Amino acid sequence: MNILIMGTGYVGVTTGLVFAELGWNVTGLDPDQKKTQSLSQGELTFYEPGLNTLLREHLQSGRIRFTSEPEMAVRDSNIIFLCVGTPSDRDGNADLQFIRQASESIGRYMQEYKVIAIKSTVPIGTNHKLSQWITNAQTVPVPFDVVSNPEFLREGSALHDALHPDRIIIGCESDHAIDVMKTLYEKIQSPFFVTKPKTAEMIKYASNAFLATKISYVNELSRLCENIEVNISDVAEGMGMDHRIGPHFLRAGIGYGGSCFPKDINAMLYMAKQYGAELSILEKVIHVNQTQYSHYLKIWEQKLGTFRDKKIAILGISFKPDTDDLREAPSISIIEHLLESGAAIRVHDPAAKLPPDLLSEQLLQVDLLEEALEQCDAIILCSEWEHYKKADWTRLKALMNQHFVFDGRNVLDGNQMTILGYHYYGIGRHL
Ligand code: UGA
Repeated sequence: MNILIMGTGYVGVTTGLVFAELGWNVTGLDPDQKKTQSLSQGELTFYEPGLNTLLREHLQSGRIRFTSEPEMAVRDSNIIFLCVGTPSDRDGNADLQFIRQASESIGRYMQEYKVIAIKSTVPIGTNHKLSQWITNAQTVPVPFDVVSNPEFLREGSALHDALHPDRIIIGCESDHAIDVMKTLYEKIQSPFFVTKPKTAEMIKYASNAFLATKISYVNELSRLCENIEVNISDVAEGMGMDHRIGPHFLRAGIGYGGSCFPKDINAMLYMAKQYGAELSILEKVIHVNQTQYSHYLKIWEQKLGTFRDKKIAILGISFKPDTDDLREAPSISIIEHLLESGAAIRVHDPAAKLPPDLLSEQLLQVDLLEEALEQCDAIILCSEWEHYKKADWTRLKALMNQHFVFDGRNVLDGNQMTILGYHYYGIGRHL
């Protein structure tokens, strides 16, 4: 079977490489020629551990190729995965223009039966719209089946997640297409959950929103923990031992970011409004997330006296470790606040780069951790890269002017840092 992946972003490239790894022939299609050329030369257009090696391996094995030419790519495929972006529009709704464009070129160029699976996160009912868009674009009627197959991989561990998913969700009403999907995934040892397309679409949103809810819940508790001399990490560890709660997504911090949780919760609220339902818990989840970083900035400013004219090192600007993705990263809001407060900022990140137009004399990005710490008054740690966990904090201390460490992800060992002479403040710890 020939698989076509439409959209060679994060999800598309990972999905394509996983299918190539499972032994299928894969073509990645993207209208952006720069992307497809770079991928054809074995260069990813984003940072993700492990993917580069696999990309080069399968370019060499001939099991994956990339193109910007839709006609042949669509014609030669048996199964098409839509992995295009669904960004938020101004109202918070998911913008389906890329899904629509992709479905129109499928309709225009297909000449025989195909299974078309949507991996992109799409509002409830998109499956149905997709069928209509494809049919409307066909010049002669050709049969096809549409499947909702949401993706649950995380940035930073994309390859592992795609190869070892907790479940494979298939929303489909055609037995033949369900069999095709089962064959495609047969080498992956994961439960297969077959349901209606709308249910599959809802499972994706509901899962992301639930994970974000866990985070906002623990983040809100962190604010109480500080005042009652209790450490939120210990509370979360004890809670997580109850298998009904589970230990994951209970790490308190300066808030969730990324291209998924914020966008998907907004899309859910938009859908709820359209259908006359209220999702008041999710409104609160957003509120807690939006106020979490500012709550801690206030505390940290008090500890330091003022941010004005202070030199602050921001460590880890990506929305999470092991990615260079800055979308909705809390670090960006923190940087904006510090700039307004008159601080001088030096930023360090193992992979992410601030856009050049943000940089100024007041805001520099440096390559070495040592350069960021040189003569600084305080460190604000925004994402929990291993690089910072492993750093030699005994040696680094000598570089700093004052020794305030504001650990926005509870990544460093607070007791050890205090013994070393740092003024260490984490999230939801007794101050
Ligand atoms: C998320 C979901 O976890 C994936 O299952 C889903 O496929 C993906 O969205 C998507 O919809 O495409 P991702 O955004 O890549 O994945 O990363 P996560 O690991 O979920 O982290 C999201 C944010 O939550 C990060 O800012 C992270 O720092 C924060 N987080 C996570 C916490 O603050 N505490 C935690 O305990 C866990």
